[in-house]
Amino acid sequence: ADVLRDTNWAGRLRRLDTVVSTQEEAKLLAEKGVPEGTAVMAEEQTGGRGTRGRRWHSPKGKGIWMSVVLRPAIPLQSTPQLTLLAGVAVCSAIRKLTGVEAGIKWPNDLLARGRKLCGILLESNVGPGGLQYAIAGIGISANLSEEDYPAELRNNATSLLIEGGMPVDREQLAAEVLRELDYHYKLYMDQGLKPIARLWEEQSVTLGRRIGLKTPQGWLEGTAVGLGEDGGLLLRADNGSVTSVCSGEITLI
Ligand code: BTN
Repeated sequence: ADVLRDTNWAGRLRRLDTVVSTQEEAKLLAEKGVPEGTAVMAEEQTGGRGTRGRRWHSPKGKGIWMSVVLRPAIPLQSTPQLTLLAGVAVCSAIRKLTGVEAGIKWPNDLLARGRKLCGILLESNVGPGGLQYAIAGIGISANLSEEDYPAELRNNATSLLIEGGMPVDREQLAAEVLRELDYHYKLYMDQGLKPIARLWEEQSVTLGRRIGLKTPQGWLEGTAVGLGEDGGLLLRADNGSVTSVCSGEITLI
């Protein structure tokens, strides 16, 4: 039997109407002990959250606003790797189902034509024994048109509708995302980051690009040359030295 395929996460999706954030709904479920792969998807979020304390624009009926419970037995310092695998999974699902040429910007934004299509927010719950569970929050701007974006987002954001020219079936896309997540998660738990890193590099729009990054030590610039063993972005500076960047927000130059 194919052990990678023995459960079907797509069957664990719960639909909700209006919530503040699906992250909170998924946390409640996780606390109640639901199995991993359990996911909640809302029609609308009134307090959708992005990374770095930002808000996530989540208008009613227009997107995939979804959070998935994960319970990996991995060390705490490996949790950023879950972000990479979620990015690979969502990118694969989008490419398969819509043909829109989504690419991953490190660590986990999906872009099309340089504009943001999808964001991922990974939150971990840590207990005395280490990582208790993680919630992978996935926001895909599916059927938003230009007018659905506030003016300040319009230049930097896009959607599957804008890119592909036709609306997507959100139910189908959510199921596909969960199938891909299921597959890549099990691949990761089985074989570690290596196969995921390879797929990530294939789907990356960061690799080979010149990038800039704000660090506590100041502005860092260089060429993205790969993913390190731990999932950090390898940056080659002009003097040839290579640094691994583990967190932060990069700018494609
Ligand atoms: C980012 O800033 O790029 C991450 C955005 C993550 C948005 C998703 S939508 C579903 C889940 N619920 C939230 O409140 N945020 C995540």
